[in-house]
Amino acid sequence: MQAMKQKRQPSKPSGIEVINCQCPICKDTGWETYIKGGYEYSRECSNGCRTKKIKSNKLQFAEIPKEFESLTVESFETDCYSQIEARERAEMVKTMCRNYITEFSKIKESGKGLYLYSKEKGSGKTRMAVSIANEIINRYMISAKFTTAIRILDEIKSTWSGNRDSDMQPLSEMQLLNEIKRVPVLVIDDIGVEKSSPWVDEKFYSILDSRLISKMITIFTSNVKIEDLKLDERVRSRISKMALPVQFPDESIRNTLARKENNDFLRLLIG
Ligand SMILES: Nc1ncnc2c1ncn2[C@@H]1O[C@H](COP(=O)(O)OP(=O)(O)O)[C@@H](O)[C@H]1O
Ligand SMILES: [Mg+2]
Ligand SMILES: [Zn+2]
Repeated sequence: MQAMKQKRQPSKPSGIEVINCQCPICKDTGWETYIKGGYEYSRECSNGCRTKKIKSNKLQFAEIPKEFESLTVESFETDCYSQIEARERAEMVKTMCRNYITEFSKIKESGKGLYLYSKEKGSGKTRMAVSIANEIINRYMISAKFTTAIRILDEIKSTWSGNRDSDMQPLSEMQLLNEIKRVPVLVIDDIGVEKSSPWVDEKFYSILDSRLISKMITIFTSNVKIEDLKLDERVRSRISKMALPVQFPDESIRNTLARKENNDFLRLLIG
């Protein structure tokens, strides 16, 4: 990054602020100063603090659930599924998602997302969707956001409070919708669990049509195939256009892991 000429700032008083700093070079500001030809310039901290700061802000914005915070596609296990077909499918899914990340610069131009689905709950869909978001933030420093279909609808409803008597659409609903429409990578977890209604159709249509037109990436997870979603045909056809269906194993890792834990425990008790 090119150096920027700056007015000399009075140096910070030393004290708790400085003692608590993680980085001795930039004191956690992300910028370091240097003197050249009698002028003071600043440049990005040579410890990479500015990049770390940007990533950490993006991760905070992403609202990834705590449980999934630092997961990657590589750490997605495929040998924990007990059935052979499930393991093979998990391998295929992992390869596809790994390639999705490595080819993301090209894919981003097309706006194509993924639709991760399986009938079985606990098969790893949310885990994988979140891992993809984590990697996009970390590798490409692109903003991503995690949300669920139900949360989107709840947040829209919560913007109504205090505006119930008004005939006009409250601005805050519009602002919220705009935010959801504009985020470069959006994970919508568990689409299809919401109760269907014309209102739900209208909201999803508005969000997804806008994201499709502006080629924003959307990654869905669901327990049903796109064609079985209880949403209006216009919404389903938007989803088909904007995301490639990826079938997950029909095996619950949650149950398999719980069974394994119980077996280990039993073995310990039997001796
Ligand atoms: N391939 C995997 N490797 C390791 N843990 C997994 C894997 N798939 C799922 N899990 C764990 O199993 C639990 C359920 O997974 P989740 O992604 O929430 O399932 P789904 O979204 O398909 O219902 C989570 O705690 C998750 O971390
Ligand atoms: Mg899930
Ligand atoms: Zn630094």
